[in-house]
Amino acid sequence: MSRVQGKVAFISGAARGQGRSHAVRLAEEGADIIAMDFCTDLAAVNYPMARPEDLEETARLVEKAGQRAVVIEADVRERAQVISALDTGLAELGKLDIVVANAGIAAMTGEPALQAWCDTIDTNLGGVINVVQAALPHLSEGASIIATGSTAALMDISKTDSPGQDLGGVAYPLAKRMLSQYVHTLALHVAPRSIRANVVHPTNCNTDMLQSEPMYKAFRPDLEHPAREDAEPLFAFMQAMPIPYVEPADISNMVLFLASDESRYVTGMQMRVDGGGYLKWYDYHV
Ligand SMILES: NC(=O)c1ccc[n+]([C@@H]2O[C@H](COP(=O)([O-])OP(=O)(O)OC[C@H]3O[C@@H](n4cnc5c(N)ncnc54)[C@H](O)[C@@H]3O)[C@@H](O)[C@H]2O)c1
Repeated sequence: MSRVQGKVAFISGAARGQGRSHAVRLAEEGADIIAMDFCTDLAAVNYPMARPEDLEETARLVEKAGQRAVVIEADVRERAQVISALDTGLAELGKLDIVVANAGIAAMTGEPALQAWCDTIDTNLGGVINVVQAALPHLSEGASIIATGSTAALMDISKTDSPGQDLGGVAYPLAKRMLSQYVHTLALHVAPRSIRANVVHPTNCNTDMLQSEPMYKAFRPDLEHPAREDAEPLFAFMQAMPIPYVEPADISNMVLFLASDESRYVTGMQMRVDGGGYLKWYDYHV
């Protein structure tokens, strides 16, 4: 129970879903947590974001695991807010070892469509860059940066049978793909300082983002108001294993490995937790 003992982690999008799961899993293994979330809805995103009480619940769960939690409401799209949030966390917890740039949105069906496109790029790419850049001056030897991508980043987005083909939808794989490239290069730049940077690529993950009408619509464009039971059989399209989705804990276990010293020479990796989905789209290559 001490795989990240004594470390401090800064996690964006930590109020619920995967971010909360990462906070709790890292706390169970001995890390203190700086948990940040916007907790505000976006007009061009057709499902609700987390609420302030969700962020408080994350803090409660981290403390239940025996660790300290600092929670801050901040928008990853605003670099000044991210820096201020991190400063608040550092003032209380004293140092930073782990960065999990996890906050993200899925803006398919969002209107106006160009706003949905911009919000997605700003959050899923710009937000990751803001979190990482804010953290970099505070990181030293042994630190680990983890960004949340998506298997959507690895799909051929020119294929029209991939889910979510409207403007808000197509911005998602674009942002995640650019995020992957950013982390690839970042890893090379920080390697001489013995700092690592990796991407975790979840497939469908059982959170509020997946269980939302815009996501159901992406998988069932033939229905006007698809429900969970309409979309769920189609979710399996994304994996080779016979599952509709993975659970947040499955992603957290990869995050924990990458955050811990067990992976001390693992860097620049694109780590898929995808039930073999990638294998369906690509032949073997190195
Ligand atoms: N759920 C999936 O199927 C799936 C699959 C692949 C990748 N992902 C990625 O996983 C990450 C976590 O998503 P999730 O599945 O837990 O969904 P989620 O909607 O439950 O959690 C996302 C969190 O990010 C927060 N957030 C959104 N915009 C923000 C902003 N501007 N600033 C700060 N916080 C903000 C939300 O309030 C929410 O708490 C995202 O990057 C997402 O793109 C999700």
